Amino acid sequence: MAAILKIGHRGAKAHLPENTLASFLKALEMGADGIELDVHVCATGELVVIHDFTVDRTTNGSGEVHKMTLAELKKLKVEGGHTIPLLDEVLAIVNKECLVNIEMKGRHTARPVSDFVDKYVKERGWSYDNFIVSSFQREELLIMSDINKNIPLGILTQASVTQAWEWAEEFSAKAIHPHYSLLTESNVKKAQQAGFKVYTWTINETEDIERIKSYNVDGIISDYPERL
Ligand code: G3P
Ligand code: CA
Repeated sequence: MAAILKIGHRGAKAHLPENTLASFLKALEMGADGIELDVHVCATGELVVIHDFTVDRTTNGSGEVHKMTLAELKKLKVEGGHTIPLLDEVLAIVNKECLVNIEMKGRHTARPVSDFVDKYVKERGWSYDNFIVSSFQREELLIMSDINKNIPLGILTQASVTQAWEWAEEFSAKAIHPHYSLLTESNVKKAQQAGFKVYTWTINETEDIERIKSYNVDGIISDYPERL
């Protein structure tokens, strides 16, 4: 049986400010096999790594990410003196062996993410298997599945494993990414028998981690990669 992948949520969110270069490095130092991060497209077209649609919660600024230029975003400070990274900056510091779970959080992210992954595979020696691109958003999944069949897709859901499974079939996804509260030993097994990987989030308590591990999921996303 393959090992369960250990994936650091927004890096090592429990230890360092989320979605920062320091947080991603910390996750890998703690033995994570992969990192999960959130992307938006800013006003000048670059893919930036930040969870919310605004910068208000995580930086000293305010405003909507998609209306701000890269120069404006780069001036902002995240707690601890960190800055909002470009997706390119994250890949520059992580090992090519690492799984990068790019969550298309913002709107209009599918095309730039498709171009981004193609660039790393075709020009920089990465493999499509280094990536899994996930989203809750039907629109972005639909566009991605239409324009790029090479990129492994993950269907995020907080509501229903069945719905994720239906979308996974529709979009030829590699994986479903259900919230861990939706999982049972039986639905994990059925999804895997149907050919889908099961990556689940965000599990932080050891008791929950051990229970979900006993279902033989394919990967667990946690703020505490060291607990996995
Ligand atoms: O990708 C799993 C998880 O990150 C989805 O929820 O809100 O943390 O982006 P959220
Ligand atoms: Ca996320």
